[in-house]
Amino acid sequence: MTNEEAKQEIEQLSTKINYHNDLYYQQNTSEISDYEFDQLLEQLIQLEEKFPEFRYPDSPSQRVGGTITKDFTTVFHNYPMLSLSNTYSEEDLTEFDQRVAKALPDQDYEYFCELKFDGVAISLRYEDGLLTLATTRGDGVRGDDITANAKTIRSLPLRVHADNLPTSFEVRGEVFMPRSVFDQLNQEREATGEALLANPRNTTSGTLKMQDSSMVAKRKLDCYLYSLATDGIQIDTHEEAINLLEKWGIQVSPTYQKCRSLQEVLDYINKWEEKRLSLPLDTDGIVIKVNSTQQQKLLGSTAKSPRWAIAYKYKTQSAATILRDITYQVGRTGAITPVANLEPVALAGTVVKRASLHNANEIERLGIRYGDTVFVEKGGEIIPKITGVDESKRPANSQPIQYITYCPECNTPLVRQEGEAVHFCPNQSGCPPQIKGRIEHFIQRNAMNIDSMGKETVALFYEQGLVKTVADLYQLSFDDIFALEGFKEQATQNILDGIDASRQIAFPRVLFALGIRYVGRTVAEKLAGHFLSIEAIAQASYEQLIEVPEIGDRIAQSVVEYFSDPENQQLVNELKEANLQFSLQVDTQSPENQLLSGKTFVVSGVFEQFSREEIKEKVKMHGGKVLSSVSGKLDFLLAGNNMGPAKRKKAESLEVQIISEEEFLAMLD
Ligand code: IVH
Repeated sequence: MTNEEAKQEIEQLSTKINYHNDLYYQQNTSEISDYEFDQLLEQLIQLEEKFPEFRYPDSPSQRVGGTITKDFTTVFHNYPMLSLSNTYSEEDLTEFDQRVAKALPDQDYEYFCELKFDGVAISLRYEDGLLTLATTRGDGVRGDDITANAKTIRSLPLRVHADNLPTSFEVRGEVFMPRSVFDQLNQEREATGEALLANPRNTTSGTLKMQDSSMVAKRKLDCYLYSLATDGIQIDTHEEAINLLEKWGIQVSPTYQKCRSLQEVLDYINKWEEKRLSLPLDTDGIVIKVNSTQQQKLLGSTAKSPRWAIAYKYKTQSAATILRDITYQVGRTGAITPVANLEPVALAGTVVKRASLHNANEIERLGIRYGDTVFVEKGGEIIPKITGVDESKRPANSQPIQYITYCPECNTPLVRQEGEAVHFCPNQSGCPPQIKGRIEHFIQRNAMNIDSMGKETVALFYEQGLVKTVADLYQLSFDDIFALEGFKEQATQNILDGIDASRQIAFPRVLFALGIRYVGRTVAEKLAGHFLSIEAIAQASYEQLIEVPEIGDRIAQSVVEYFSDPENQQLVNELKEANLQFSLQVDTQSPENQLLSGKTFVVSGVFEQFSREEIKEKVKMHGGKVLSSVSGKLDFLLAGNNMGPAKRKKAESLEVQIISEEEFLAMLD
């Protein structure tokens, strides 16, 4: 392919991807599948790698991230990012309206109402149509440069195309994690025994400050913009600004409304009180803005907030009902979760029957008793929570709740480790929900991907005495399954084929599938990449484990504990005999694996054919050493897509050789 052909192809692909992206995010429709979309993006990334001179700053490939930021640069805002004063009642709003009227004597004025999005404020600078800077609010005067992370937000245009676009403008709004994405993320964390994230807002805030933008890309953040500032063109009203943003393809929530009186504002508030709960993100109130820009100037601002705008916060909806009973659920790791069973009560459009209670401390903190009248609230979470108790309605003779001391499923005495809030059932090998939970975890798509089996199959196999451990799966025969009711020939064969195919699943995923507490997918990759085999991990001491980047105290301790348990040792042995992948298959003695002996590498950016961890494994497999920072002693900087410019500069100034993925793979050939 000639340079000219590559340039054309890159531009055509980018146009195509942008077209589908717009269709998806601006118009809520699509003409191609997610898979086809990813294929297009993949093609583009590969071409850009071969012809980096045509990798444009607004290339849609920026969406997948890959830049590593160690310290976020502080940037001064062009004008301060103020906050809003809050009100909670109609009276407060009436006062606000009176203040506005007084400051604008004999003038007509209009309001512009929007929802108050519960996310993280962001400021975006566009120059010559190109997104050049994204910053957090910080202290209002200066914030952090999070441009690389913001570029992964798919609904955010990296370049704005429009007639008469001002050379430079600034847009502000709110980044958020859609509730569905948040729930999914927490489900995944629950499955690996990781601590659950508190709410979408904090998660968004943490995500925007992640060092690796490819991790940010996976978190699927979204944003709504609600302000535009520019010297380039005259904008007379906020409504006009919003219309311009929409015209330029910058995402605005379609929930706004112009109001000509305080009454219309109150109607807007009522209209959205319930309706907002079905939006894809959390909202906690509405924002009322004076529409005319000139009147905004007349009203001015205090040091903290504008006098031309105010927030009205909705009261959280709560209902009173009776606590009937508490049931206790046992998870895969043996963790006990108490659940409150309530007298059904209507709340925010649904009927609430259950509420989560988290752990024994929470029950104690609330001081609830059976038969108590309790208050339930619905936050962003799907399951409502109990926020308090009406002691005046407490039935006579009621006693404090005694937390269970035996497992409700297998009757084993529960344990609670020092400093932990959660009780555990220690009977790992005999407690049914733990056994079934471990097998369900093992077969899931992200682990061994045995998708011919489901939750029901696991339960049936367990109840029929066919499987007690994940190793038993590999002992199943055709007749074992075929003999069960409802299993025809094809279904039986599918299950056996699925189990057989799982023998090819790579070591990091097998490690994840074991279900070691706190060892999620990423941690499993790190451990596998560092130690290369299950034996090495099993033998590693606590000290050796915490030396691995990103492996902390809790994980190290959990890994040591797992491998010191004879039952787990036996399980791993049985799985080895079943021919699962338990190493990254390195023969350090062979000449092939001495190819990079004595050479040092820093691996940075996103690669085409392999993940960054896989590239690092390859270096080690061939006798090389992976370092974390560029220094004069370094032999090679292995540069992927979107590597930070600072790293490249440093390597250049120290005359370190910079090589591409292709050049690296050629070295191994
Ligand atoms: S306008 C001068 N509009 O609320 C302040 N803010 O308490 C301009 N927010 O920092 C803000 N939704 O992060 C505005 N529709 C909306 C908003 C909104 C959420 C946040 C924003 C701001 C905070 C102020």
